[in-house]
Amino acid sequence: MDGDFRTSQMKALVLSGGSGTRLRPLTYTGAKQLVPVANKPILFYVLENIAAAGVRQVGIVIAPETGQEVMEAVGNGSRWNLEVEYILQERPLGLAHAVLTAKGYLGEAPFLMYLGDNLIGCRVTDQVQAFREDVSLSASIFLKAVANPRAFGVAVVDGDGRVVDLVEKPQTPPSDLALVGIYLFRPEIFEAIDNIKPSARGELEITDAISWLIRNGRKVQSHTIDTWWLDTGKKDDLLLANDTVMDDWLHRRVDGTVDAESRVTGRVHMEEGAELIRSEVRGPVIIGRGARLVEATVGPFTAIGPGVVIERSSVDHSVIMEGCHIRDIPRLENSVLGRRVRVFPAATHHDSISLMVGDDCVIEVKR
Ligand code: DAU
Repeated sequence: MDGDFRTSQMKALVLSGGSGTRLRPLTYTGAKQLVPVANKPILFYVLENIAAAGVRQVGIVIAPETGQEVMEAVGNGSRWNLEVEYILQERPLGLAHAVLTAKGYLGEAPFLMYLGDNLIGCRVTDQVQAFREDVSLSASIFLKAVANPRAFGVAVVDGDGRVVDLVEKPQTPPSDLALVGIYLFRPEIFEAIDNIKPSARGELEITDAISWLIRNGRKVQSHTIDTWWLDTGKKDDLLLANDTVMDDWLHRRVDGTVDAESRVTGRVHMEEGAELIRSEVRGPVIIGRGARLVEATVGPFTAIGPGVVIERSSVDHSVIMEGCHIRDIPRLENSVLGRRVRVFPAATHHDSISLMVGDDCVIEVKR
């Protein structure tokens, strides 16, 4: 109870706006924060982590293009015992701009800011408590040692974890410690944002605002995580995120129906209403509600979304989203299929392929 009391004034700000160019074509029709990992939107993992840290009031920054979809998926947050409000950011003018847009919502509260497309393998509870209690801290950031720091905000810290320098996507990284996209702030961050200018990419960078705090003698602490952190930026990142989450968090639970001629081995989570007919599933695999596998071989490391139908086909190491239909495909692997994609053999016997695909799709065929 005591812990709950100390964090009760704290708010959370989840950034779920932006344009999501890297995950095209999936993000043409949906928010990147709602792309599923092990059949669950990334944003839901974020909200679970916020709830676990004892923070109840959450503002979600949304964009005009994808806001509706985010609101429909999350609702009022009661599923996580959260009170969710939405803040519209008209244009993606940067992370610090998003914070500024939320100024009215945040008021005087200290807050946990969380990028809605970031997935980490640990809780943030201890750091939230520590920040709440140590009012000498102006900000606190989460870091992770990475192989490619140039793609991120990069920090330099002293022996006690105090941040001494920060730079956004540097050509020559001063360290390998990347900003994970989870931050703790007090209202003085608004003063910092008022004092920065847009970066070369035309955005108000939160990294620059934190640098301003440091330059002005404020104390910025860091916590370097040693579990995984997944950026779901591109196809292979998304497949890796699925592998990691299924590897770490998936339990065997078969709620669907499995006929006598089917076999389910390993950690397979089969939701209610899913059906296996003369099929073999090798975990880790998750199968969404209402999916139907007929004479199929699926797994390992595969997420089958709700309502997917797979017939006489083999699928492994893939993400197959809601409503797809795969028929008579001997082997589909390392693939990400968006919603309602259909894959089946051509009706002709010519050596040709026949496609109906949207913009920015990638098709890899046998030479
Ligand atoms: O992923 C961690 C990195 O996130 C940090 O290392 C960087 O320091 C930080 O600047 C940020 O870099 P990105 O370039 O990857 O940020 P991105 O534009 O992908 O936006 C991150 C999230 O914030 C994403 O869910 C979209 C949302 N967003 C973004 C912008 C620019 C907004 O809600 N509003 C915005 O204006």
